[in-house]
Amino acid sequence: EQAGKGEYDHFMLKEIHEQPVSLSQAIEGRVDPARGRIALEEFGPATFEGVESVQLIACGTSYHAALYGSLALNRAGVRARALLANEYSVGAPPVDENTLVIAVSQSGETADTLNALRQASAEGAATLTVTNVVGSTAARVADETLFIRAGPEIGVAATKTFSSQAVMLVLLAQRIADDVRGGPGADLESLLTELSRMPAAIDDLLSSTNARSIARRYEGCQSYFFIGRGLGFPVALEGALKFKEITYDHAEGFASGELKHGPLALVTPETPVFAVFTGTEDEKTLKNAEEAQTRGAPVIAVCPDGHRAVDVADAHLEIPDTDSMLAGLFANVQLQLVSYHAARLLERPIDKPRNLAKSVTVE
Ligand code: G6P
Repeated sequence: EQAGKGEYDHFMLKEIHEQPVSLSQAIEGRVDPARGRIALEEFGPATFEGVESVQLIACGTSYHAALYGSLALNRAGVRARALLANEYSVGAPPVDENTLVIAVSQSGETADTLNALRQASAEGAATLTVTNVVGSTAARVADETLFIRAGPEIGVAATKTFSSQAVMLVLLAQRIADDVRGGPGADLESLLTELSRMPAAIDDLLSSTNARSIARRYEGCQSYFFIGRGLGFPVALEGALKFKEITYDHAEGFASGELKHGPLALVTPETPVFAVFTGTEDEKTLKNAEEAQTRGAPVIAVCPDGHRAVDVADAHLEIPDTDSMLAGLFANVQLQLVSYHAARLLERPIDKPRNLAKSVTVE
């Protein structure tokens, strides 16, 4: 097992550092910035032409990627929502043949997700799975498949598969919008250029990060909060999930604007707030962070250098100034590293957290 970890002490750290490679693999041959086009050759022409709405179903970290994808679809002008797969049987919105149901699952074997996928299929929806595992059950059950090509992920806490899922869903969103509306939803040139720069930019982030000193600085606090708006919201949820999974400390993610509607009652000098800035209504998020800071909470701004939040916050985790569709994914890498170092200080069994399994094949 040590051999498989190479120079790293844990698979999780190795897999965080593999993200430049896993993302290159994900986008290879699929983006063409020079011609401003997305090539998802696995789908025939106009595969998504009749799609009127999209439902994304998933669990855990994959649910956060699904939420990210649903926001990308909405931004592209396609009706979409993300649903927890384990809630699907009791509260799914109705589907018909014009509904595309996308199951997002790293393993392709999560029982909750497979059940929801089968239900959607039985009710007549078109189905697609976004997965890492060729030959997985989800890949066999769904009508269409999009592989994220992240390579094997051993650490129970998902890292590199999250970024690849999110990136593939952003690409898929543009492709669906193109089929449905006759044009991609986003500024494709900027998106594809930034996407092709992303692996190198993550490499830079990994070699310059101060995540370890941030983890040390806030060690022993009572609770850790993560806030974000728009595409920063799923990143905040994922930041908190990762943190609780491997440190066993309490962590919670909130939509920035929701902090004042309840969670603010929990904020004290013992509750650091990680604020994710993705370039969408950042002034509002900064105001929300300041509301926590006024109550004594240290604020860690996850944003580009030179951002106004850097002057206001108590600490800074830097991300590059990039397309707003991708900024949150850089923030996510910084937060993965904070969780890793926090868990390491606590000497937790990082790759195999108590009570958790890599893939949950029971309901
Ligand atoms: C388990 C894992 C999580 C994962 C979730 C969904 O709970 O511990 O890390 O996000 O399953 O897994 P999937 O393979 O469907 O993405």
